[in-house]
Amino acid sequence: MKSKIVAQFRHPSGLLGALAGRIMAARRSNRFRNDRTVDLMALSPNSRVLEVGCGPGLALARCASVVTSGRVVGLDHSDVMIRQARNRLMKQGVADRVTLIEGGIDRLADWPDTFDRIFSLNVIQFQSGKPGFFGAVIDALVPGGLCLTTYQPRLDADGPGAAQRMIASIEDALHAVGFENVTETEIIGGATPAICVFGQKSDTHRS
Ligand SMILES: C[S@@+](CC[C@H](N)C(=O)[O-])C[C@H]1O[C@@H](n2cnc3c(N)ncnc32)[C@H](O)[C@@H]1O
Repeated sequence: MKSKIVAQFRHPSGLLGALAGRIMAARRSNRFRNDRTVDLMALSPNSRVLEVGCGPGLALARCASVVTSGRVVGLDHSDVMIRQARNRLMKQGVADRVTLIEGGIDRLADWPDTFDRIFSLNVIQFQSGKPGFFGAVIDALVPGGLCLTTYQPRLDADGPGAAQRMIASIEDALHAVGFENVTETEIIGGATPAICVFGQKSDTHRS
């Protein structure tokens, strides 16, 4: 049963997907990772921020508690997650501050806005082409904008060394599409630290 639920994390659907979303929302370590990732962005009331793979909306709710006059957008290709995120935002009284989009990363290509922060949390491990993913992100950022990618290694499933390999592949992909000032920081709080990798779009970047 556990493996069936874990398999849902990539694209939650149906009843098992709804259960996976409830587990994500209830797990203390996941709530902490979401909070810390949002705090690392140093948002202001007029920030324009996008989350790719928002799941049940934990981070969006925290973004919306700070961003009162800017823009908060959540993108997820799972209709079940978009529903759970909407319910959470409504319960917290911030639904009117957040735009939810059901769709994949490809939706960014025709999205009319640009953002000064784009982040994802435990989404990158599901992407087959990281340069394609970060290429879409850099095109949707304003010059000087930041991309944050948080990843929680799962030692039981991924084995030793997996975290370092994942971080190296994230950093390679960020550099490949033109991000600068690529750095990382640990988010300590769960059984193993999560890693947040930053990249900045340069002021002179050309697609
Ligand atoms: C493990 S969950 C993490 C959810 C949330 N970020 C959190 O930490 O609580 C991964 C989420 O990313 C979404 N996702 C994965 N790949 C995606 C893509 N290419 N475009 C949009 N959503 C994606 C999944 O549907 C799922 O809701």
